[in-house]
Amino acid sequence: MRFLITAGPTREPIDPVRYLSNRSSGKMGYAIAEAAIEAGHEVVLISGPVHLDRPRGAAVISVSTSDEMFAAVRQHIARCDILAMCAAVADYKPAKVSKSKIKKRSENISLELVPTRDILASLPKDRKYLVVGFAAETEDLEANAQKKLHEKNCDIVVANDVSAADSGMESDQNEVEILFRDGEMRKISRASKKIISRDLVEYFEKYFEKRLTKKIV
Ligand code: CTP
Repeated sequence: MRFLITAGPTREPIDPVRYLSNRSSGKMGYAIAEAAIEAGHEVVLISGPVHLDRPRGAAVISVSTSDEMFAAVRQHIARCDILAMCAAVADYKPAKVSKSKIKKRSENISLELVPTRDILASLPKDRKYLVVGFAAETEDLEANAQKKLHEKNCDIVVANDVSAADSGMESDQNEVEILFRDGEMRKISRASKKIISRDLVEYFEKYFEKRLTKKIV
């Protein structure tokens, strides 16, 4: 199968030296890319700025902003069977990017932010590929993940609690809940992102096959 995986944060420029971003390390997306390659799949990895080695055997496309990630996903989506949107795409970007460095002044300043385009929510409903969304939550994990599954029209949502210091963001470990569009749910208890990724790739493969044979809508 052909996997298209996004990973890492995006950076939304404020001026030539500053940007808005988040704490995503890209570890989960890179681990999924490695697990998919290990399982014999073809992988295109669209990566935001991270400090990780490129997974051997993956075609890596480096992007920085949410707009660049949006364009890269659009460009490669037609050739994939499974899209795993692991990236922590910024939800907002500055309304204006200053061409010159914003100088320090003594008074308060405010930054106007506008929503970025939601890559997942923009995908067509009628499609052949499987769409996996990721939900990073600090409260009401299941309810919020369920909402994302339906609102963003995903086939699967992988949800994790990012409030714990030793699990989720930046960590080498994780603990996830997997929600499927047909109502099924699975949990993977705390393990390394490497181990979790192997299980996730298997769940994605199985659901892809199930969707083909049972015509889940
Ligand atoms: N996502 C996306 N485009 C965006 C923002 C998010 O495609 N502009 C995707 C992420 O890659 C992830 C999923 O949407 O697969 C959920 O991201 P998350 O940050 O958990 O949710 P948000 O939609 O941003 O909602 P909130 O921040 O309010 O939880």
